[in-house]
Amino acid sequence: SSQATWGGRFTAAPADLMLQFSESVSFDRRLAPFDIAGSKAHSAMLAHVGLITAAERDAIHAGLDAILAEIKAGKFKWEVKLEDVHMNIEQALTRRVPAAAKLHTARSRNDQVATDMRLWFKHACGVLAQKIAGAQRALLEVATANRTVLIPGYTHLQRAQPVFLAHHLFAWIEMLDRDGARFRDVAEHANWCPLGAGAIAGTTLPIDREFTARALGFLDAKGRPQVTQNSMDTVADRDLFIEFAAACALFGVHVSRIAEDLILWSSAEFKFAELPDAFCTGSSLMPQKKNPDACELLRGKSARLQGNLHTLLTLTKGLPLTYNRDLQEDKPPVFDSFDQTALCADVLAGTVTGMKIQVERCAAAVSDPALLATDLADYLVAKGVPFREAHHAVGAVVRLAEKNNAALNQIPTEEMKKIHPAFEEDWAEVFDLGRALAKRSGTGMPGPGALAKQFKRWEKKLRVE
Ligand code: ARG
Repeated sequence: SSQATWGGRFTAAPADLMLQFSESVSFDRRLAPFDIAGSKAHSAMLAHVGLITAAERDAIHAGLDAILAEIKAGKFKWEVKLEDVHMNIEQALTRRVPAAAKLHTARSRNDQVATDMRLWFKHACGVLAQKIAGAQRALLEVATANRTVLIPGYTHLQRAQPVFLAHHLFAWIEMLDRDGARFRDVAEHANWCPLGAGAIAGTTLPIDREFTARALGFLDAKGRPQVTQNSMDTVADRDLFIEFAAACALFGVHVSRIAEDLILWSSAEFKFAELPDAFCTGSSLMPQKKNPDACELLRGKSARLQGNLHTLLTLTKGLPLTYNRDLQEDKPPVFDSFDQTALCADVLAGTVTGMKIQVERCAAAVSDPALLATDLADYLVAKGVPFREAHHAVGAVVRLAEKNNAALNQIPTEEMKKIHPAFEEDWAEVFDLGRALAKRSGTGMPGPGALAKQFKRWEKKLRVE
């Protein structure tokens, strides 16, 4: 029967509807390389402890290698009635190699699927960390090409204080850097081998869990094998799924905020940047339109990434220990989060790579002297005026400028002195942008010296080895 793996106590086969309902091979087949690596390590261990012969191990390995080659060539026949990736591969092996009947010794699909997923998470986190670094590199290039460009920084979407464009881009690079680090953390958490937990309570057979863990690369920094410490927790635990989806969701939030800035910057109202044609679309009705669709989708995808996290939290909540079939639903959201996160990182890189900074527009926007009102208050503070009093005085200057319909640096000095006696002839020097930026020299600030250090830091950190 097609259910040779568990059909022994059954008299009737599953309904077609049940097969269709319960299959997971349509989505878990992507685990095949990890499932095969797990089976090879497991059978190597079985031979090592004498539960199978070396010849049986070699036959199993050769069979699994041939199956993997077929899968990679797209020639493997996946069968829905065999439920999942594990049984498809085991059945195919059984058709080729008699020893296949011994492969599942001291193993359950519960510790098997946990192992496949931990291997997959380690791989997936590595891929995403690389892709995120690629997006960071693309941003660093824009910063490098526009090193001297200044723009207003915003709070409440109101012009606040001047910054180098590079400082704004570096803020994005910082956000993405935390995402990369988060994926590396998740990969570390994944680095414990479940095999040997069995279905729930291990096995009566004399297996060597450390041998299997070593064979699969579940090693600590000193090269010692790491195996999970409680068989029940091992088959029930889905923390990694949630952590991974959370890392994707938070990356999505970051990308969404970056995309929103880019959408604003590319609008006629800002026009700080022109997005590349290759990542924009036109309107079927309005011939003049160039829409920032890639950025809007980056913003939209973050909703999907958050939804996947929510699915996993809800799926797991309230489940009794240990494995329940509900848990098969853990894979589609995780795979979708991976696929979408990978795409988003690539699309972000592509979009910023082709982006043109509109230097004149940036210069015009940052020339507003009001951006340096805080510097004017700092001028008074430097002359011994308490900050609150200085803030109030500059507020009065702003009010006067608005009343006179004049720029902040165009008030007659007598008027300034009437507002506060600490204003002297040199007060308008505050509005020299270069001077204002140079004063912001502390770590993390947008001054040219501090920024130069950040350029060095990112060039070093993001260098392709
Ligand atoms: N396809 C199953 C899953 O993804 C594999 C584990 C099945 N275990 C079981 N006891 N039915 O969860």
